[in-house]
Amino acid sequence: MPEDPNALAPSVWPSSAHRDDDGVLTIAGMSATALAGAHGTPLLVLDEDEVRARARAFRDSFTTAAAGHETSARVYYAGKAFLSTAIARWVTEEGLGVDVCSRGELEVALAAGVDPSNMGFHGNNKSVNEIERAVQVGIGTIIVDSAIEIERIAAAAERADVVQRVLVRVNSGVHAETHDFLATAHEDQKFGMTFTDAEIAVARIRELPALQFIGLHCHIGSQIFGVAGFRESASRVLELHQKLLAGGDIPLLNLGGGFGIAYTSVDDPTPIEQLAAQIVTAVADGCASRGIPMPQLAFEPGRAIVGTAGVTLYEVGTTKDVRLGSGASRLYVSVDGGMSDNPRAALYGAQYSARLASRAGSGEPVLTRVVGMHCESGDIVVDHEYLPADIAPGDLLAVPATGAYCAPLSSNYNHVPRPPVVAVSGGRSRVIVRGESIDDLLARDAGIRTNEGAR
Ligand code: LLP
Repeated sequence: MPEDPNALAPSVWPSSAHRDDDGVLTIAGMSATALAGAHGTPLLVLDEDEVRARARAFRDSFTTAAAGHETSARVYYAGKAFLSTAIARWVTEEGLGVDVCSRGELEVALAAGVDPSNMGFHGNNKSVNEIERAVQVGIGTIIVDSAIEIERIAAAAERADVVQRVLVRVNSGVHAETHDFLATAHEDQKFGMTFTDAEIAVARIRELPALQFIGLHCHIGSQIFGVAGFRESASRVLELHQKLLAGGDIPLLNLGGGFGIAYTSVDDPTPIEQLAAQIVTAVADGCASRGIPMPQLAFEPGRAIVGTAGVTLYEVGTTKDVRLGSGASRLYVSVDGGMSDNPRAALYGAQYSARLASRAGSGEPVLTRVVGMHCESGDIVVDHEYLPADIAPGDLLAVPATGAYCAPLSSNYNHVPRPPVVAVSGGRSRVIVRGESIDDLLARDAGIRTNEGAR
């Protein structure tokens, strides 16, 4: 049980977050009450300076680590974690490229003005139309995920009269879990290629004048803590990289993303400076022991850039003491959102924390479960959290670490409109993604002849 159920654990909140003299949660100089007053709840609040600082930390850490081994490193923001034009601009202004994995993500990045040559295009099932569009706008790299794609990309490149740079995604057999990693001989999953298939793919790519093979790509998982999984994977991929050097230069090695963040105070991710130094050193050691040149490196963090910058504000609706079999009881705190704005607990059993935001509570810490307003018992936002016993309807509740994979995974379950996203910086807030209205929801229903009478 925490001593202070109002305390803000630094690892899970944006560094600007604190309680003001009245105990109100404040982010980037904006109080939770002012934010909710101006934009309503639920509300996803994104601390712009936190996103920028994390983007810079990734760029600087990998650049410095790579320079120490006479090479360079490029960091691409994995847009799937959360992409809007504002976010795309922030990360590119901080010197990152952008990775996209669908036509929609590509169009958002283009609409933001991201230079296509600073973009990578991913996906296990890129359509011919997507490939065509990506090649035509001049995408920097396409990450080949299957043999079938090779001819499709080559045909698109020929039509556009360009030479398209491609990477080949391989399965290293290393599958990283949050606190551990698993090394298997065969990966039974849809992404990437086995080493044998990748060798054949690279040989084919090298035959095609419209394509240029620039390196291997490997992504071992997400929410990874520590360096062991990256090290093991890099060592395996270098084996193939070395073999392929017999057929020509390979300037690049892309080791993907997956850097973990703290969702609760229990999580303890390695600082990025250390992680970057250790990963780059592992690659350098691998190259040295094989007697091969150190390639340029690329990385694709998503969650670690935006995750901790996001805080969701909800309003508490009902509270209910539920007696458990053991004689103990649990306080259920219902909020005005839930699995439609953050399905991660329902999907992955993800753990979050929560704090009273509109004031500091004065009651003893009590065990609570924060639940949403959806018609589903798995609609849990925070599975277990100690909150002040005086929490009451009308209070604002804040859930930190919701910047990544919440808005992108959000839905309209129960016809609940998706909340707005606001960026906060220097005591000001601005909407970067508009919230949906009931009219927006009704607009897609082709059975409605007129929207008269709808709000
Ligand atoms: N690169 C590739 C090829 C990826 O597939 C991913 C994530 C990333 C980079 C970025 O990984 P990150 O640094 O964000 O961990 N929806 C799940 C996460 C899915 C990750 C998919 N791929 C979640 O909410 O935890």
